[in-house]
Amino acid sequence: MKAVTWQGTEKVSVETTDDPRIQEPTDAIVRMTSTAICGSDLHLYDVLGMYLDPGDILGHEPMGIVEEVGPEVTHIAPGDRVVVPFNISCGHCWMCRHGLFAQCETTQVRDQGKGAALFGYTKLYGHVPGAQAELLRVPQAQFGPIKVPEGHPDERFLFLSDVLTTSWQAFRYADVESGGTCAVIGLGPIGQLTARVAKFLGAERVFAVDNVPERLEMARRHGIEVIDTRDVDDVPEAIMNLTDGRGVDGVVDAVGMEAHGSPLQHVAQRAAGKLPDSVARRAVEKFGVDRMAALNTAFGSVRRGGTISIIGVYGGQANPFPMMDLFDKGVTIRMGQAHVKRWVDEIMPALTGDGDPLGTEDLTTHSLPLAEAPHGYEIFKEKQDGCIKVVLKP
Ligand SMILES: NC(=O)c1ccc[n+]([C@@H]2O[C@H](COP(=O)([O-])OP(=O)(O)OC[C@H]3O[C@@H](n4cnc5c(N)ncnc54)[C@H](O)[C@@H]3O)[C@@H](O)[C@H]2O)c1
Ligand SMILES: [Zn+2]
Ligand SMILES: [Zn+2]
Repeated sequence: MKAVTWQGTEKVSVETTDDPRIQEPTDAIVRMTSTAICGSDLHLYDVLGMYLDPGDILGHEPMGIVEEVGPEVTHIAPGDRVVVPFNISCGHCWMCRHGLFAQCETTQVRDQGKGAALFGYTKLYGHVPGAQAELLRVPQAQFGPIKVPEGHPDERFLFLSDVLTTSWQAFRYADVESGGTCAVIGLGPIGQLTARVAKFLGAERVFAVDNVPERLEMARRHGIEVIDTRDVDDVPEAIMNLTDGRGVDGVVDAVGMEAHGSPLQHVAQRAAGKLPDSVARRAVEKFGVDRMAALNTAFGSVRRGGTISIIGVYGGQANPFPMMDLFDKGVTIRMGQAHVKRWVDEIMPALTGDGDPLGTEDLTTHSLPLAEAPHGYEIFKEKQDGCIKVVLKP
């Protein structure tokens, strides 16, 4: 089959690899019809290369048609249309029974001290072949795959695999009551959907921050009040002014470790990316190579007693951390990978009903054949050609 493989820093290529086979009775093989590129893949593309080997298959936002199932997989059958969550969880361990699917104890990558295995996401997360390919082997398929109905384009359901469920969790974790206020830092795919979920779930005012014109424009057309950092130097001050000096109830950091506006950490990250792998791993794990700009905006914008929900991925050790301010403000911070399946039942009615209230079909800016994946990575990374979300069509 053809698959998108990581080949080195900022280099992916489409290669011919062996077709995956059923290896366990709980496996399924799914033929991909749509498989998206995520902001998380960009971290692999540039700063986290030390955790990959050339030839690793990328991708964790899969949707397709079931081709084959192992004998213990009974809730889906060949021919079914399914979306596959990016985290691999068993559904029956202690963590899964508590809805903490991103921490599944059956697939936890214990030798790396990490949570549940993920598709296409480095040795830290199980070194599982990813979904940007014609075929995907799905472990724990007795639980993971979500059956979805016919009658809408793939894009209506595809984002259950990650972006939409992640955004749902991001907003839920921000603990904003109906009628409350929310700020979303970053308007990539995650920020876009988080802001829409916030409105959909009843936030009265939703502010979103970025500096990319077409991303701001997309948010605007979904009723979001945008703050353009090309015009506004001090975002927390702007948010304070918009909220009678109080700050917002909840802030979502939808940026993560590659935030703009942290020049020193940017240099450190770039440098770590060029070191030999073992040295680079130590550098990333021990030193402050996370960029703090988005987090600092969140810290400054939240009201006293409010909540910060960190959904952007961090990979190093952030330092310095304004403990005094956070303690004094009495801030709650929640974070982590999305527990994808935990949110699916809540979201599904918004996808299967009339209309498209979350605008899932207004997120993808580029649909490309698998062979054009390298171009897709480049324009997504560089924000060229109005790129906001790339969906590959194997
Ligand atoms: N926790 C999870 O389960 C999970 C799942 C999916 C993605 N993620 C993470 O969410 C983050 C966003 O993903 P995405 O696909 O939207 O990525 P993206 O790279 O397309 O979006 C990031 C956006 O943040 C903006 N930005 C950068 N620095 C900023 C700053 N200082 N202030 C305001 N905006 C800033 C960028 O212009 C960009 O539009 C990534 O870190 C990704 O890894 C987490
Ligand atoms: Zn993702
Ligand atoms: Zn489990």
